[in-house]
Amino acid sequence: MDEKKPSVNDYVVIKAKQDGVNVIGLTRGTDTRFHHSEKLDKGEVMIAQFTEHTSAIKVRGEALIKTSYGDIESEARNNHTDK
Ligand code: TRP
Repeated sequence: MDEKKPSVNDYVVIKAKQDGVNVIGLTRGTDTRFHHSEKLDKGEVMIAQFTEHTSAIKVRGEALIKTSYGDIESEARNNHTDK
């Protein structure tokens, strides 16, 4: 079986397509909250992993996101101002 299973070892690659993209880590467990926010400027790349502490990642702003499930682009709001 070469089907991919979700794993805490999975990496996600995020490349910012504008200044001020936020990569936000959300906690694993019963309490789901932000625990980390990383700001990327245009062209910057973050390689992030799902861990014991991180079960979800939120990307805010325009970015290219590469995962083992495929690639996706997040979009900016029209009036995106948090740069
Ligand atoms: N200390 C966090 C952790 O080990 C760091 C982290 C991992 C993180 N993956 C992330 C922060 C994704 C933001 C987004 O879980």
